[in-house]
Amino acid sequence: MSDTCARITGTDLDRLGFAVYLAATGAKAEELHARADEARRAAVGTDVHVRGIIEFSNYCERGCFYCGLRHETDTLTRYRMSPDEIVSVAVEAREAGYRTVVLQSGEDSWFTAEIVADMVRRIKAETDLAVTLSIGERPREEYALWHDAGADRYLLKHETADRGLYRRLHPDSEYDSRQRCLRWLMELGFQTGSGCMIGLPGQTLEMLAGDLLLIRDLGVHMAGVGPFIPHPATPLGRAESGSPNLTLNAVACLRLLIPHILLPATTALETLSENGRRRALRAGANVIMPNVTPFEYRARYEIYPNKASLGRDMREAFARVTDLILSEGRTVGDDPGHSPAYTVTPSLPGRGTRGRAVPGGEIAR
Ligand code: 5AD
Repeated sequence: MSDTCARITGTDLDRLGFAVYLAATGAKAEELHARADEARRAAVGTDVHVRGIIEFSNYCERGCFYCGLRHETDTLTRYRMSPDEIVSVAVEAREAGYRTVVLQSGEDSWFTAEIVADMVRRIKAETDLAVTLSIGERPREEYALWHDAGADRYLLKHETADRGLYRRLHPDSEYDSRQRCLRWLMELGFQTGSGCMIGLPGQTLEMLAGDLLLIRDLGVHMAGVGPFIPHPATPLGRAESGSPNLTLNAVACLRLLIPHILLPATTALETLSENGRRRALRAGANVIMPNVTPFEYRARYEIYPNKASLGRDMREAFARVTDLILSEGRTVGDDPGHSPAYTVTPSLPGRGTRGRAVPGGEIAR
């Protein structure tokens, strides 16, 4: 195993080769995670980056079969935070110690390109936060507008790299469109995050190996990898959950495959497995994303049920996450936690982009 673990870095391992690692259990899995932990320390050090997520709208125009926010779910009370409230939660998050906010929602066209751009400009003008958007597929021009407004990062998971599985799970979206969006985001200069779910019904280890290779080939800076959790109000409500161990193996393989990548210890993993975040931190992860959404909205952002929480108050969550990070002998990132493939430049006059990160870091892929 050790020899071959070493081979994952800069690898030409194919899908079958990866499938063997993904299937590891017991002592083999422990060794894989330990190797990934070592690779993480060597490539990106001890910092764990804390990103506060603001789930600002649970309206969604898509019907993805796995997601509780799909527009067909009629048992859900929909909400939309106002742009003023979103900006003020972001400012509060900065005061509470967060250095990045992630603005996430369902695909909600109420938030026009201009409204989103305006929120980004206001947050960048009022704080030195890094701003991540995670609001789905949009035209290239809108992504460009948001990048010009100062948005640093964009998360758009590819969900699955298998065309057939993608088609079966997404009645109203296209595999090629999603990947085109990811390429646009990269071209426009966003620090871009992709990622996938583990344990989707019908997903094989070879398909998952394909996810890892796609993440590498897209050249993205981040990858969110979490287990699938069935939501009873969706067509997949009676399917089985993804395996926590398989999820940890996928995180570890990604760390070995792309040593400098940003990898979150996901809430979905914590939801399924006690100490899931801690175990992910030990298997290659270096990001944690506490929920900073005002408590009154949280129960309604139900992508999957029983979502693990770090506390109802964003300061409490920051304190708890700090304890977790320090108890693992790690450090809390005290900068915006940009991808090492980016360098921070001074603000560009008139663009509202304080401490903007731009491509240019020397990371060999
Ligand atoms: N279980 C786990 N993750 C899910 N997501 C959506 N539905 C589920 C589910 N049932 C993930 C998708 C999406 C992100 C916002 O949440 O990967 O991109």
